[in-house]
Amino acid sequence: MTLVLGIETSCDETAAALVDSDRRIRAQALASQVRAHAPYGGIVPEVAARAHLSVLEDLVRETFARAGAGWEEVDAIAATTGPGLIGGVIVGATFAKAAALARDLPFVAVNHLEGHALSPRLVGDLPFPYLLLLVSGGHCQLLIVEDVGRYTRLGTTLDDAVGEAFDKVAKLLGLPYPGGPAIEALAREGDGDLFDLPRPLKGRPGCDFSFAGLKTAVRHLCAKAPDARVADIAASFQAAVADSLADRTRNAIRLFLDRHPHGKHLVVAGGVAANSALRARLSDVAARAGLTLAAPPPALCTDNAAMIAWAGLERFVRGAREPLDYPCRPRWPLDARAA
Ligand code: KG4
Ligand code: ZN
Repeated sequence: MTLVLGIETSCDETAAALVDSDRRIRAQALASQVRAHAPYGGIVPEVAARAHLSVLEDLVRETFARAGAGWEEVDAIAATTGPGLIGGVIVGATFAKAAALARDLPFVAVNHLEGHALSPRLVGDLPFPYLLLLVSGGHCQLLIVEDVGRYTRLGTTLDDAVGEAFDKVAKLLGLPYPGGPAIEALAREGDGDLFDLPRPLKGRPGCDFSFAGLKTAVRHLCAKAPDARVADIAASFQAAVADSLADRTRNAIRLFLDRHPHGKHLVVAGGVAANSALRARLSDVAARAGLTLAAPPPALCTDNAAMIAWAGLERFVRGAREPLDYPCRPRWPLDARAA
């Protein structure tokens, strides 16, 4: 049995979790900074870093208390060392390194994207290889995951990330941050066929994405039809996103199956993967190609420390340990060849 403490501070959630090699989340604690950033209408990196610093120690204590565990049971400490808002990343990684030094424990550096990429393996027996659609506030990528640390990027966004598009469109519609959950809730009451919004890159070869044009189209629609029901705009936007993601994913499935004819799973992970309409659509895309969709439960899609502890554990049991001068980085692609 291996027990890993995970720490996540790369964006606007401060989180700690204790996860073991039996896939048990022994305990976790999470503090959202949504309220701290609300007055600014977006995440302020400096505010984020200070907020992480003020709550992290208490969150770690709370995690140990909830688990009824002590430091002596921990085998390794894992923390996100990038990519993300660098001030926050430094807070979490430095806390983890200091704890590792003080407790004489190994330190494991985790790429935040690898946390998302491996998160479905924390909840079930998901074998490699799989095709991954990684959709979050900062990223929108299709990757082949061949093993821990072995990623091939098939496509990425040419402009905005998909979560960013949800957040910007929500702002246009007067909805609160984060925009994804707000749009999803409103879209349930709307008609997604009412407005014919563009499906960026649909029908084109390749696996890249683009969402900036769709966001602009929503802005024009709001100006042109000021009396339109917000729910109908939200539903039409979500339908366009689903269509675009489905189209790009179909292209990626072909490339994945060329390379791995016996591949069985399409995985969707990252904050936007919490969206049930998108999950339903992707489940259909997967089924038509003879694949099964695997997606972590919504609480493990959005940023959390359990996925960081788990990715750290997956690396640790394969022998990974990082030195205490290991760098933090704002950018850190999973597939170094695609940098
Ligand atoms: O993975 P995540 O928590 O943080 C990053 O690593 O970026 O993703 C956050 C993003 C936000 O843009 C948020 O609006 C989006 O995920 N999101 C959703 C939903 N829940 C969160 N987007 C669509 N539908 C949702 N239900
Ligand atoms: Zn994330």
